[in-house]
Amino acid sequence: MLVVRMLRPIVGGMVRTLACRSCTAILPPVLPVRVLSSSPVQTPTDAHFHSASSSETGPPRVLITGGLGQLGMGLANLLRNRFGKDNVILSDIKKPPSHVFCSGPFVYADVLDRQNLREIVVNNRVTWLLHYSALLSAAGEANVSLARAVNITGLHNVLDIAAEHNLRLFVPSTIGAFGPTSPRNRTPDLSVQRPRTIYGVSKVHAELMGEYYCHRYGLDFRCLRYPGVISADSQPGGGTTDYAVQIFHDAVKRGKFECNLRPSTRLPMMYVDDCLRATLEVMEAPAESFSMRTYNVTAMSFTPDELAQEIAKHVPEFRITYCVDPVRQAIADSWPVSLDDSMARKDWGWKHDFDLPELVTTMLSLHGCDTRIAQAN
Ligand SMILES: NC(=O)c1ccc[n+]([C@@H]2O[C@H](COP(=O)([O-])OP(=O)(O)OC[C@H]3O[C@@H](n4cnc5c(N)ncnc54)[C@H](O)[C@@H]3O)[C@@H](O)[C@H]2O)c1
Repeated sequence: MLVVRMLRPIVGGMVRTLACRSCTAILPPVLPVRVLSSSPVQTPTDAHFHSASSSETGPPRVLITGGLGQLGMGLANLLRNRFGKDNVILSDIKKPPSHVFCSGPFVYADVLDRQNLREIVVNNRVTWLLHYSALLSAAGEANVSLARAVNITGLHNVLDIAAEHNLRLFVPSTIGAFGPTSPRNRTPDLSVQRPRTIYGVSKVHAELMGEYYCHRYGLDFRCLRYPGVISADSQPGGGTTDYAVQIFHDAVKRGKFECNLRPSTRLPMMYVDDCLRATLEVMEAPAESFSMRTYNVTAMSFTPDELAQEIAKHVPEFRITYCVDPVRQAIADSWPVSLDDSMARKDWGWKHDFDLPELVTTMLSLHGCDTRIAQAN
């Protein structure tokens, strides 16, 4: 036990790439761990918004928490292409599949373990932190105490470490941060936010805490409210918009899909490439361009029925049936049907590439649907 305790600070903070024939050995320099400040209160209140990353030369050193979920690996790929493989560290509490482990630095990081997180940041000279760890809407309702711990206590750890070490911090929020009393059509950035899920409550908390740390301690906090994100190569993590990912798998493999939301449930959505590009763009935008720190971003809004009709244009035999999950339906009914993201477009030039027709052709082709269509013809 003693040995484990002695080794943990050394091992825990080191990013390893080990005995995998196709891997190159990556052992970034391990700096001595000496945490001088443990409270963000020590950050001057008039600190400038720019983090160390913008004043240092060279690319940022990036840490992604919760990186093995639906979005983290795609984000790591995008950032590695831009900043170099070794400058982007993926982390999670799950064991990475070998192709992920071999594709760049990976480290175990539990966001509830503040000391370990701090060691990783210090030992790897991290300058940007993208905090993806979370329990999503449906998963959160199934385990409220765990969602409260990961989404709220984990966020507190991340905020304190980011403030202590002058990091640029990105935390994604969600349409789930709105609730039944929010305006539902073209929901603006600033409106009533009274969500009824632990996920939504924790994300409102994250938005407010991040903005508070920004104003109080000069933390360079950046936040986007993502809509439902649709991707082909990773599984969704228990959100209310998961149907819009699963439908493509089932359309191509089975020619049919059973939807857990009603046919008329309209929700804001975005293709993963747009979502990740928005994240990179907001991280690279000059702080001076921001009139706020939490922005809506969106691309399209559709219902399951409209999505099914668009898929059927390419897969004529496709059929959708409905078996409504009351928990997910109640969550969806409390969310916006569309978002107003005009401030993101105006302030830092946000522009989406994918509307519904491009989304459907791209997703079907990524699932190998070209072959199916060719066979059908
Ligand atoms: N996917 C979407 O449609 C969507 C929409 C809006 C916002 N978001 C936000 O984007 C972020 C990423 O979403 P995602 O879909 O990839 O989520 P996901 O559920 O697929 O992945 C979350 C990851 O967090 C990890 N995690 C759980 N507990 C942890 C802990 N204690 N320490 C470290 N990691 C832990 C999980 O192992 C998992 O890999 C989340 O913050 C989510 O709220 C996602």
